[in-house]
Amino acid sequence: MDAKTILKKLDRIEGLPTLPAIAMEVNQMLLDYDTSINKLSKILVNDQAMVSKILKLVNSAFFGFRGKISSISHAIVVLGFNTIRNAVVSVSIIDAFSSEEIFDGFDITEFWKHSVAVAVTSKHLAEKSKIHSADDCFIGGLLHDIGKVILIQYFKELFQKVCLSVKVNNQSFYEAEKSEIPVDHTQIGGHLAKKWQLPAGLVDAIRYHHDVRPSVNDLNLLMIIHVADIIVNTHGADSKAKLKLSDIHPDAVKVLRGQLGTVSDWYPEVSLEIESACKFFLEK
Ligand SMILES: [Fe+2]
Ligand SMILES: [Fe+2]
Repeated sequence: MDAKTILKKLDRIEGLPTLPAIAMEVNQMLLDYDTSINKLSKILVNDQAMVSKILKLVNSAFFGFRGKISSISHAIVVLGFNTIRNAVVSVSIIDAFSSEEIFDGFDITEFWKHSVAVAVTSKHLAEKSKIHSADDCFIGGLLHDIGKVILIQYFKELFQKVCLSVKVNNQSFYEAEKSEIPVDHTQIGGHLAKKWQLPAGLVDAIRYHHDVRPSVNDLNLLMIIHVADIIVNTHGADSKAKLKLSDIHPDAVKVLRGQLGTVSDWYPEVSLEIESACKFFLEK
């Protein structure tokens, strides 16, 4: 099977995960400038489980309002449309892709921990560098490896082949994909994101996070996700580890120089934020 055949097969799979309906609706609505707080609250009110999760989120240590926000419309006023949209999309996606039975034998919680860590780190990089909206970077980080989930769910043999090669040849997952199978998680993830009608910049950030190309839509978003992934992979396990700048695309090194130079100073604080985000998004 070549990459084209695999992506075609992906299109034909019935029951291929869709972006959960409510997230899709909220996503569409926020592309429309006329959306009012009222309209958005009305949609959310139809999903009480979502409402209580969002209220729990805005009142959590993550945002720091500590029990002061009691309604969705208040949450939108305080945090803004984008933050609420991103919270809804994040919660829906994690919920849709967390069933332990489907991912039998694969630690899906570890997968989401990595994704949440990249999301929080991307948000931090965006805030400090001021080169992108922090909210969009959070979503990009959360979704960057989504192709892996599809690989596990629908192409298990290919996935196992990659895992074996990671162990035996001591390679990164991406290197093993390149040498062992005809398609990789960035191609699958990009394909899926397009199907979900996510913004073009987000599709490209998922598609090229291991292979930065200056010609993409929204290069700054891509560079932030690319760098955050490498920071998390380096510092996640060992806070004293040294970043290898040669792994990072030179344009990204230039643009994010200030943040890269001081990473060991700020990462400990960011890892506390990662912990609190994991608590919210992953605790059942
Ligand atoms: Fe990746
Ligand atoms: Fe990753």
